This record gives sequence, C-alpha cells and structure tokens, in this order.
Amino acid sequence: MEKPSKTVIIRKRYDRLAIFYDFMEAPLERHRFAQWRSRLTDRIAGHRALEIGVGTGKNLVYYPRDVKITAIDVSYRMLKRARKRASLLGSTVCLQEMDVQRLAFPNNSFDTVFATFVFCSVPDPVAGLKELKRVCKPNGKLLLLEHMRPGNVLLGLLFDMMNPMVVRMMGANINRRTMDNIKRSGWQILKEEHLSGDIVRWIEAKPTSS
Ligand SMILES: C[S@@+](CC[C@H](N)C(=O)[O-])C[C@H]1O[C@@H](n2cnc3c(N)ncnc32)[C@H](O)[C@@H]1O
Repeated sequence: MEKPSKTVIIRKRYDRLAIFYDFMEAPLERHRFAQWRSRLTDRIAGHRALEIGVGTGKNLVYYPRDVKITAIDVSYRMLKRARKRASLLGSTVCLQEMDVQRLAFPNNSFDTVFATFVFCSVPDPVAGLKELKRVCKPNGKLLLLEHMRPGNVLLGLLFDMMNPMVVRMMGANINRRTMDNIKRSGWQILKEEHLSGDIVRWIEAKPTSS
C-alpha cells in the first residue's frame, strides 16, 4: 500500500485532536495566547485578508469588521469547529478546506495574509510561505505569531531531541527555524518581537520585490 503523505498524516492528526484542542490549550489561551492574538485586530488591513490554519477559529473574535476575510485549514474537523464558532459569533468569514502548500487563489489576491501557530505543523513551511507570497499583493503584508527553535545552543538541542515525540502527539514541530524559512520564501522582515523568550515571536513582513 502507498505511504500516506506528510500532509495526510498531519490532517489526520488534527482531525483527531479537534475535539480536545480548545480544552488542551485553555490555560495557555487565558494567560498568554489571547493577549497576543488580540494584536490582529489593528494589524489586519486592506479589503481582503487570508488566515491560514484557522484551526477551531480562535482568532475569529479578533477579526476587524471592515475587512473581508477568508480562512482555510487542511483539517475538516478543525474547520467544523471553526464553522460552529463563526455561527455563534455571527462572523461573515469564508471558511474553506485547503492546503497552504497549494492554495487555490489567484496571484495578488490579498492585502494581508496571517497565521498563528501554524508553520510549526505545515510539512513544507517554505512551500507554504512561498504560496502566501504568491497570493499576497506586492504592497501587502504577512503577520505571524509562531513558536520556533530557541537560539540557546543547549535548549535548541533539547528541543531537537524532544521534537519527534511532540510531532507524534501534537502534530507540531518545536524546532523549526522559522525566521530563516520566512526569509528563504521571499519575505522581508519588518518587525520581529520576542514574546516568550525567543521561542514565541510576533513577526510582520512584506513581500520582497523580486
Ligand atoms: C497548532 S494549530 C493552530 C490553530 C490556530 N491557528 C490557532 O492559533 O489556534 C495548527 C493548524 O494548522 C493546520 N494546518 C496544518 N498544516 C496545514 C496545511 N498544510 N494547510 C493548512 N492548514 C494546515 C492544522 O490543521 C491546525 O488546525
């Protein structure tokens, strides 16, 4: 039998986690994440925006009212929960099942593209970030809230050792070199803020002109 692709494995993992996801993250959400997510309201700009890996829709409450937002996820069951949340909030977001590594949108479609805690689980983050650049307008921007491999040598090695176990349990890599991946994908970093040591960062970027 053919081996399932990494994307199929991740999709199945999040389909399985969907029912527990909000409960598992509740303490962190209350103490840290919610405050960080709230930055989205001011920073999402323009007429059209795209959220990648919307998950259960935790960012929906922070969407600005005057921007038309499309949000995608590769996991059907995560999206199902996002749909429920959108309906409770009366949100007009357009939710679609899609893989960021192969977006079905034309070039230069969005003014803002954004994601929170997603590029740790996308199998090929550089392919995903390049797709985001393709669908982002040349004068648009990228907003990311991401955790990544710490710069400290010993801590970095510890994260490398723990990574296989975390991927199996949570579908997320804890040792991604996300800043390098962003730069390799044709984005120019405009802002990089360390929110929890150097592990969780808020990043703003614009497409490079090439
Ligand atoms: C750690 S969760 C974060 C969910 C949400 N952004 C949040 O902040 O709570 C990662 C999400 O990315 C989605 N994801 C993983 N790989 C993806 C891909 N290739 N394309 C689109 N979504 C993907 C997963 O299904 C999951 O919902």
